[in-house]
Amino acid sequence: MEKQEHWDNIFNTQCEEVLGWFEKDFSQTQKYLEKIENLSDKDIFVSGVGTSKIADILSSRKGKTVLNDISQEALDILKQRIENKNVEFFHHDISKHFKKECDVWIDRAVLHFLIDEEDIKNYFESLKQSLRKDGIILFAQYTKGSAKKCANLPLKQYDLEEFQFYLGKSFKLLESETFEFTTPSLNTRNFIYALYKKED
Ligand SMILES: C[S@@+](CC[C@H](N)C(=O)[O-])C[C@H]1O[C@@H](n2cnc3c(N)ncnc32)[C@H](O)[C@@H]1O
Repeated sequence: MEKQEHWDNIFNTQCEEVLGWFEKDFSQTQKYLEKIENLSDKDIFVSGVGTSKIADILSSRKGKTVLNDISQEALDILKQRIENKNVEFFHHDISKHFKKECDVWIDRAVLHFLIDEEDIKNYFESLKQSLRKDGIILFAQYTKGSAKKCANLPLKQYDLEEFQFYLGKSFKLLESETFEFTTPSLNTRNFIYALYKKED
């Protein structure tokens, strides 16, 4: 099955509250959003947004929000919830190169689905070319020792070394922590949350 079909099928057949990554309690992601200065004015790119509440929160700001997903189904669900001139719905596979200028790049549980080295390199090239100087990245990915699959797909686990390897020296770690996330079916998954700043 093609990647888009896989994800479309999930969003088409399952309600949001049962999805393994659904954040009923949004406080962990909210806590990290609050660490980003002047969030209200920033241009933000969200990769693989799914149907997350983050879309509603960010799209009510002054700054521009680009909501990306490979799934047209997920974006269609969001389009029914969100009406704002400052929002762009961007249907695209993030393993293919693109550029969307932004001040903040947010990725919760999307990057870790890229397995091929070529795809990962394309992702980080796009990120580096899109993010302006002093821009901020918020990553939240499955970390070492956590589950090896999500949504029936294999994934790559991340730690700080791995992020830094792909980001290179121009990015400085501001803050990070391991967070134990409880899924709707009450399993636990360890995420690494990390904030980076682009210094040049
Ligand atoms: C585990 S869900 C996380 C959704 C959301 N980020 C959240 O935190 O609730 C993964 C999301 O990434 C999207 N996705 C998977 N592979 C993608 C790709 N190559 N390009 C863009 N989006 C992708 C899926 O359609 C899905 O919405």
